[in-house]
Amino acid sequence: MAKRSGKIRPVLIVNGPNLNMLGVRQPEIYGRESLGDVIRACRAEATSLGLDVEFRHSNKEGELVEFLHAARQGNSGIIINAGAYTHTSVAIFDALQIAEKPVIEVHLSNIFRRESFRHHSYVSLAAQGVICGLGSQGYLLALAAMKKLLNKGK
Ligand code: DQA
Repeated sequence: MAKRSGKIRPVLIVNGPNLNMLGVRQPEIYGRESLGDVIRACRAEATSLGLDVEFRHSNKEGELVEFLHAARQGNSGIIINAGAYTHTSVAIFDALQIAEKPVIEVHLSNIFRRESFRHHSYVSLAAQGVICGLGSQGYLLALAAMKKLLNKGK
């Protein structure tokens, strides 16, 4: 597992544009939980898995890229829901590759049951795995999967 001075580095959970509007944004698609609710559930899951977690959110592509650059030194793995940038951002794809960490892509909705422009993901090209369509549970499943990926790397 990626360690710094004997300590396992936290797993970074990154959320992209419009995900700060969870709970009020098209709840029939994204559910009624707020981003704060999702973060609380992730913290509880991480504690029970014995992982440290850090959360970042931005509506700005460049800021997301900078979170990923920082992950190269500061994090052991990356769980990312890049929102709409999933489908457009070569910059986020490049930054994920620069990070050189295990990556799990999460989407609340099943992007393959939706508009065709959501079917392509640049993030997937850099991800070990993709979880979509399971709502906020996807983040918790991603944490459990990340724990296994990190243990394999020990
Ligand atoms: C999303 C799916 C994207 O297509 C969309 O642009 C989002 C949210 C999801 O979590 O289902 O913002 O990433």
